[in-house]
Amino acid sequence: MTTREYLPKLGRVLAGLVLAALAGGAAEKPASLDIEHWQKAFARPDHVPMPADNESTAEKTALGAKLFEDPRLSGKGDVACSSCHQAELSFSDGVDRHTGLDGHPLDRRTPPLWNMAWGLSWFWDGRALSLEAQASGPIENKQEMAGDLESVTRALASDPQIRQAFATAFPEDPAVTRANLMKALAAFERTLVSPETRFDKWVKGDDNALEPDELAGFTLFVGRAGCVACHQGWRFTDEAFHDIGLPGDDAGRGAILGVKAAEHAFKTPSIRERVWSAPYMHDGSLATFEDVVDHYADKVVQRPTLSADLPRHIALSAKERAQLVAFLNTLSSEDPPRPASLPARTIAWGVRTDAVAASTVSQKDRRFTPDAILMKIGEALRILNDDTRTHNVRVDGQGMSFNSDGQNPGDTVTIGFDKPGHYDVICGIHPDMHLSVDVEAAKAP
Ligand code: HEC
Ligand code: HEC
Repeated sequence: MTTREYLPKLGRVLAGLVLAALAGGAAEKPASLDIEHWQKAFARPDHVPMPADNESTAEKTALGAKLFEDPRLSGKGDVACSSCHQAELSFSDGVDRHTGLDGHPLDRRTPPLWNMAWGLSWFWDGRALSLEAQASGPIENKQEMAGDLESVTRALASDPQIRQAFATAFPEDPAVTRANLMKALAAFERTLVSPETRFDKWVKGDDNALEPDELAGFTLFVGRAGCVACHQGWRFTDEAFHDIGLPGDDAGRGAILGVKAAEHAFKTPSIRERVWSAPYMHDGSLATFEDVVDHYADKVVQRPTLSADLPRHIALSAKERAQLVAFLNTLSSEDPPRPASLPARTIAWGVRTDAVAASTVSQKDRRFTPDAILMKIGEALRILNDDTRTHNVRVDGQGMSFNSDGQNPGDTVTIGFDKPGHYDVICGIHPDMHLSVDVEAAKAP
């Protein structure tokens, strides 16, 4: 057990009052911000780094994307990488700790996988030294996929399509080997680059891209709140290991190094696209950004291993906490982004085998085009997500109800109707998207 030592409560209240008195009315205005400096410090790179011995090609990343979703990588053929690393949750899984194969929670939370290409080490404790080396971890982990690479590669090699895909991806070494499997998975992971957000627009010089409260939050982030000591650069991580005073007895980096001073230290996570990947921290113990900010402000467990870069006490008013959260939100897209390298899905619902003349409706720019359609029984309606955001297709009418689940850019849903009448189609994520479908009975030939 760890003991929490709080500053004496009265002392904290007094310190807060003194600070407030000293700050006077100035607390309302963000402290002065060296905009040019920070716009340089957070500028995005113009290319994705890759190792000389695993240059990415379209064939390799396409194979990696397929393997990422392939449950044959697990011992029982029922767990894929994507079972835990789900695209619409920034490649995490929405729970504090995923339930392992023995029914008990895993030791740590599933981390999001955006911008892995720029990493220096992988896992919360940095024990893997390349993305290629990382991938064998979950496959052979008894609680995660419980596969062994020998049988996994044998099973994959018995599928002629997969064999062909490996041969195309690795022309100099056309075989389903452990090394090629790791290379393909890593090449796919390097395509997971988080898209530009409003914050990046601001970095590029668009002064209006951030609201005043968001800019005030950024000013705190790089100033008095001290966050930038560790969350630095365009990915917002120094790639180093720090104890930030979360309760719990996971030794983290300390156990890897055998160094007491590094106990409780974990890798600084990137904080891009994190709106989609709650809960937070290596143990998933904090549910929201508000909880995260409250932790740094007044819940840090005092112990000798605390990072030297962690402010020991930050006085933050309720308004300032809200501003920090507002800023954190600007590092995420407005909808969960989906990388173009993941294969598109097609869903068919109620389509008769003799269906004809599929009319295609587009979902670009948060609009169905056309937004009204007349069909006959026996015809199929095809809805293509040619937008850049994730949608959903809900169909209601004539006692029928259909829900497509998340429909990502590139995905199509094909729908057949077996009763004449009116149907309403909306996107459950953007309900102002509306498509009106009228189905006529088929005329006798
Ligand atoms: C059962 C859930 C589960 C499955 C399946 C799974 N992972 Fe993970 N993944 C995790 C957890 C939990 C961690 C963190 C473990 C740790 O740090 O000790 C992790 C960590 C990672 C990391 C390190 C991320 C970082 O920030 O350092 C990568 C990369 C990764 N997984 C890729 C994969 C790949 C590729 C596969 C498939 C071969 C896969 N995972 C399968 C749960 C899973
Ligand atoms: C001393 C370095 C350091 C400082 C300073 C710091 N962080 Fe962190 N941050 C980390 C580390 C390390 C973690 C992961 C800790 C863990 O899981 O045990 C983390 C986790 C987070 C997370 C959760 C990310 C995720 O996906 O789980 C958020 C959000 C965050 N920090 C925001 C902030 C904000 C806001 C501040 C300033 C108030 C701040 N951090 C200050 C190092 C730091």
